Amino acid sequence: MRHSTLALLTVVMAVGGSHGYAGSPSGQPLATALTRTVNVTLPDSHNVFPPGEGADLANSQCMICHSAGMVTRQPPLTFDVWKSEINKMRTAYGAPLPEDQVESLAKYLTAINGKQQGK
Ligand code: HEC
Repeated sequence: MRHSTLALLTVVMAVGGSHGYAGSPSGQPLATALTRTVNVTLPDSHNVFPPGEGADLANSQCMICHSAGMVTRQPPLTFDVWKSEINKMRTAYGAPLPEDQVESLAKYLTAINGKQQGK
């Protein structure tokens, strides 16, 4: 009993792996079986940047390679240091942020995690 259930599951998974997309010609019942909706509530964490002017920019540009936490968990930096940090991402790692956005992003990062010049 237990054995045959397992075998059936394996077959469904094997077929699903190669053809199990919605619209598969023969796969209507299969597609239905495989498109179940699951709701999960993720804990509030550092997965996005805090709201503010420039948050969209940071959310779209600064999580291509790492989490927002990599940025928000840094010690506070001055505007100038944020600017060079952003430019390091661009030149050393190839972040695609356009040069004319560096200032606005540095302003945002200083607003959410900044310190005064010279302190
Ligand atoms: C413009 C948005 C943006 C900001 C702000 C940003 N990153 Fe990074 N970032 C890295 C890598 C690689 C590291 C180093 C990770 C490590 O040391 O483990 C890093 C590390 C960091 C650090 C930690 C301090 C440091 O210098 O190592 C900060 C702060 C940071 N990134 C900010 C690749 C990227 C890429 C990939 C093309 C993009 C895009 C990117 N980073 C976009 C951004």
